[in-house]
Amino acid sequence: MPAGSSRREFFAGATLGAAGIVPMCCGTPDAAAGSWTIADGVLRIDLRREPGLKKTGEPRVVVEMDRKLNIIVVQHEKGRWAALDRTCTHGAGMCAYEKRRRTIRCTSLNHAEYTLEGALLHGRTHGNLRAYPTAERAGWLEIQLESRA
Ligand code: FES
Repeated sequence: MPAGSSRREFFAGATLGAAGIVPMCCGTPDAAAGSWTIADGVLRIDLRREPGLKKTGEPRVVVEMDRKLNIIVVQHEKGRWAALDRTCTHGAGMCAYEKRRRTIRCTSLNHAEYTLEGALLHGRTHGNLRAYPTAERAGWLEIQLESRA
């Protein structure tokens, strides 16, 4: 059993895994350790160290508890990126990328759904998801966490 997992979580995952189903909440991998840094309000992801992000439709998450940062990042079309808060505005469920619909969808039972710009499409929530400006430069993806004055 993986460290930090409860026995119940482990068996729930094993049952779903045996059925060939990856739970949506657990289906978004973390960006590789050491592939990203944060400085001057900018999250920088080295795409050479996180090659999964170079593929379209393959999201990664970046979580940094000290900064209360929990972001989902995806290249939804070649050269077009989205970076959004991952925490649903309804009840703090974790959101995941919905590849087929190109949206962000909450994994809770209410399934709130947002555009890649963070606008709420449907769901009883408390508003939109925050979306962050992105730019790709010389093998790095830059995500502007703080707005510049
Ligand atoms: S927590 Fe996302 S819809 Fe309820």
